[in-house]
Amino acid sequence: MTKKAIITGITGQDGSHLADLLLEKNYEVIGVARRCSVDTTQRIQHLSYNNNFKLIEGDIADVSSVINIFKDNDNVDEVYNLAAQSHVATSFKQPALTWDITGKGCLNLLQALLDLDLRSVRFYQASSSEMFGSSYDVNEHGEKYQNEETKFMPNSPYAISKCAAHHCVRLFRDAYAFHASSGILFNHEGPRRGENFVTQKIVRWIKNYQRWTDKVVGRGKRTYDADNIYSENQEPFPKLRLGNLDAYRDWGYAGDYVKAMWMMLQQDTPEDYVICTGETHTIRDFLNIAFAQVGINDWEGMVVIDPEFYRPCEVDYLRGDCSKARKKLGWSHEYNLERLVKLMLNA
Ligand code: NAP
Ligand code: GDD
Repeated sequence: MTKKAIITGITGQDGSHLADLLLEKNYEVIGVARRCSVDTTQRIQHLSYNNNFKLIEGDIADVSSVINIFKDNDNVDEVYNLAAQSHVATSFKQPALTWDITGKGCLNLLQALLDLDLRSVRFYQASSSEMFGSSYDVNEHGEKYQNEETKFMPNSPYAISKCAAHHCVRLFRDAYAFHASSGILFNHEGPRRGENFVTQKIVRWIKNYQRWTDKVVGRGKRTYDADNIYSENQEPFPKLRLGNLDAYRDWGYAGDYVKAMWMMLQQDTPEDYVICTGETHTIRDFLNIAFAQVGINDWEGMVVIDPEFYRPCEVDYLRGDCSKARKKLGWSHEYNLERLVKLMLNA
């Protein structure tokens, strides 16, 4: 029988990948998008003519809106809550808004399901490795890692909101027997990644720089010399402005990670799972890999360190251990960082 799923955050990176996956599996998919004065549906344009896909308006920060989502759409099997104010740096500037969406929004959904007596609906919450903050464990080889047992030490309003949502999921599971699971996902990227996350920001800059050199220097004559950026006779091409290059992140591909979300809701018992690659790299490593893939080995002169992109508090080290997901879900990643960067550069 066809299953029906609601996805919040449908216009985002993960929402669009998850919709693709569920539609492939013959689900009926209802995507929730909030009202905006401009079109935010670029990532799901390709689904406009799919008869199994429906887009509805809703805002998870608004209780009435959430109740109406469930009242207007019956026989729903699964709800995936991917909606969030998901940018960590923005959360320091808009902490209360971040809380209303990223924290309270999850509670609004769970409480509406309870009040409407829909507790048999399976629920996925997009938890985050950001919740670990400055916390890690150390294995027998002296390597730092985070898994489901690592304590949370959140370092941003975003992470604190995610921790609150994470605990709501656990509470509804324990108190009301909800089939609710949180995926503690480490950073995942891809061609659909938002432009103000560091990987996409770097990739976009490289692609724009390539276009610019093609235009002003001539195709096939790229010199990739940092001094060329401000040559005398041409319009200057702005350098790439970044913040902290020394933080470590465990980066995977979004297309791999949405499979884990679906797998969690197919289990008999709801549980929380860490999803990651198990490898960690600094932003500097990412720059090395990305520039090397387009033949640039000396990128330092093209990058400006700008204090504007530093955060009041940083998460210095993330490297996940997803042994549990490997064992219980049979999940593993296909894309390593080199392959991910290639995918993003070629998109
Ligand atoms: P994203 O691209 O920023 O997408 C966020 C989505 O949430 C967008 O569709 C956004 O809509 C929607 N949204 C924001 N506020 C809303 C509201 N009040 N009501 C309804 N929808 C709202 O994020 P993502 O990378 O796809 O991540 C998906 C989820 O996973 C997020 O919860 C994120 O925090 C979490 N997560 C992401 C990662 C990662 O590395 N990508 C890792 C761990 C956890 P608009 O288009 O209107 O802005
Ligand atoms: N965004 C951004 N822009 N980050 C920069 C920049 C810059 O110009 N320069 C350096 N960074 C550093 C940040 O300080 C951080 O250490 C790292 O690059 C990654 O930043 P983001 O790409 O913004 O991701 P994030 O790790 O803060 O958060 C992402 O991953 C979380 C999971 O760990 C988001 O997708 C969150 O929603 C997600 O929960």
